[in-house]
This record gives sequence, C-alpha cells and structure tokens, in this order.
Amino acid sequence: MDLTGRDFLTLKDYTPDEIEFLINLSGELKEKKKKGVVEQPLIGKNVALIFEKTSTRTRCSFEVAAHDLGMGTTYLDPKGSQIGKKESIADTARVLAGMYDGIEYRGFGQEIVEELAKHSKVPVWNGLTNEYHPTQMLADMLTIREKLGHLKGVKFVYMGDARYNMGNSLMIVCAKLGLHFTACTTKEYFPNDELVAQCKEWAKASGGSVTLCEDVKEATKDADVIYTDVWVSMGEPDEVWEERIKALLPYQVNRAVMENASKNAIFMHCLPAFHDLKTTIGAQIHDKFGLDEMEVTDEVFESLQSVVFDEAENRMHTIKAVMAATLGAYK
Ligand code: CP
Ligand code: NVA
Repeated sequence: MDLTGRDFLTLKDYTPDEIEFLINLSGELKEKKKKGVVEQPLIGKNVALIFEKTSTRTRCSFEVAAHDLGMGTTYLDPKGSQIGKKESIADTARVLAGMYDGIEYRGFGQEIVEELAKHSKVPVWNGLTNEYHPTQMLADMLTIREKLGHLKGVKFVYMGDARYNMGNSLMIVCAKLGLHFTACTTKEYFPNDELVAQCKEWAKASGGSVTLCEDVKEATKDADVIYTDVWVSMGEPDEVWEERIKALLPYQVNRAVMENASKNAIFMHCLPAFHDLKTTIGAQIHDKFGLDEMEVTDEVFESLQSVVFDEAENRMHTIKAVMAATLGAYK
C-alpha cells in the first residue's frame, strides 16, 4: 500500500483497506518501540506543527513520533505565528511547504485545513478541526482491536454531542470498518442527515450499521464499546454550557450505562475529560451548575473497563504511522 504524498484530512478520503493498513502499521511501529528498536527512516526531514487550538496528546504525539522517525519539528502555538491574522492560509502553505516535508494543522473549520492542503506541495495532516479528528480515529480503532481482538461486528455506542468532530469521525470510521455504530443522544445532537446517509452507504459495503437512538437503555444494551466526549468543545462559547448540560445529562456515562452494556464492554474517551471537576474550568462549571461530574462519572473513568490511557498512548503510535506512510517510509 503506497500512501506517499497523500494528505490526511478526514477518513472520508480513505478506503477501508487504507485505514486498515495504517492501523496495522501503527501496531507494528508500537511493537518495535516497545522492544526498543530504533529506526529513523525519515532522518533529515522536518515537520511543522500548527496549533490554533490547545493540545496535550496530539502535540506530544506528533513531536515524539517525528523524533522517533528521525525528523525535526517546529511547534507553532495558537498565538505565535502570522497564520490567518497577517498571512493567508494559502501563503502560509506555500511558505511552510518550501521548508518542511509535512504540515500538521489543528484549528477551526475543516475548510481551513483543506485550503492549506490545496496550496501545499507536502502532505498536510489534520490534528483536529471542528468537523473531524481523523488521527484520533486510528488510535481508537487500534485500541478496540487490542482490547476486543477485532473490529468487524463490534457494537459501538457514542453518547453525547454527536454533531461535532468526534461524533462525525467515529461514525465514519465505524461505517467504513464494519462496526455497528449508534449515536445515543437527544435528536438535536444527532449528526447531520447528509453524513448519516453517506455513512449508511459505507456501512452497507462493510457489513456494519449506523443507528441514531434517543433511548439510553435501548442503545447501550449489550454494547461492546461505550464512548463519550466533552459536551462543550474547544472554541465553543461558555454560554452553551447550560443548554448542553440540560440536554446531555441524561446521556452521561455512569454505572447504570456500563451495567446495561456487555459484561466485557470497554469505556473510551478521546480526553481531556470532565470526570471529576478538579481543573480550573471544571471548578468553574462546578461552582456555576453544582455538578460534580459531567459526561462520565469518576467511577466509570477510573474503573477497570476504562481504556482511556491506552487510547491516549496509541495516539502517538498511530500518528507515527500516518507520518511514516504519507512521507513514504513504509509501504
Ligand atoms: N484527544 C486529543 O486530541 O487530545 P488533545 O486535545 O490533548 O490533543
Ligand atoms: N470535541 C473535543 C475533542 C477534543 C479532543 C474538542 O473539539 O474540543
């Protein structure tokens, strides 16, 4: 499988075989790393990492993975560059592509990363936009495969805001790889009709399915994976917290949800998570709304069913695979 020169903007652009190739390559690179094997097939190359939103996992994954592959990195933080303020995306793409071998972009609208890719002669990787989070998908699928042994036929339930990057991307990857995907939320938070229709087509071909369901008991019955994400995403205004809490509290992942799922079910979250509200923003929410937990209870988050930190580690191995494959190091 030759992915040399390809952008990685959304998994809509990748075939099931290509996605599986990247998951397999991630597994192989992970094994090598665990054994202490050092291979630096991309020595002499450099990548630019643009972050218009903050990050812990994605930034660290790109940096560690790039260094493991022999590459240098430049991190451009949300305030430290001219991008989009003094300089257009098209000009930025042409400047950076002249110096770097690949460009990662995390920011707002998907159209921005698409524009960057259009004007860049080197691969562009989406490190999260409002609409999609494709590198997270590879980590999530690798984690499910490691924990459950397979992907096809897995009953996957996503709870919470299913209209945003995580809900959209999980629906796409599940549909392409033959999982049974359910968005379990109130209907105002269902993914958009056009994307649902497209995913149903992919699911038909892969043997998976796509379901939208408002009833928690029905949706989570015998599920293999229960997944959630924050109720308010980066870049959204603080004012939406109140309406989100009202709408999504019934879809909190708690003990009752996990008990209704399969007895071997795993709990997943892309992180960061509001499971105890002991962070600065968490404390503000606690004081304003009187809640101690949000999308997932601390009990579930800290339980043996929770695989969130394996998932976080897998971000690095999968991002390494994306860079290595699109820069032509592994075929
Ligand atoms: N899951 C994820 O993308 O985390 P960061 O925001 O820390 O990169
Ligand atoms: N939906 C979240 C995902 C964070 C990884 C956000 O966009 O903030």
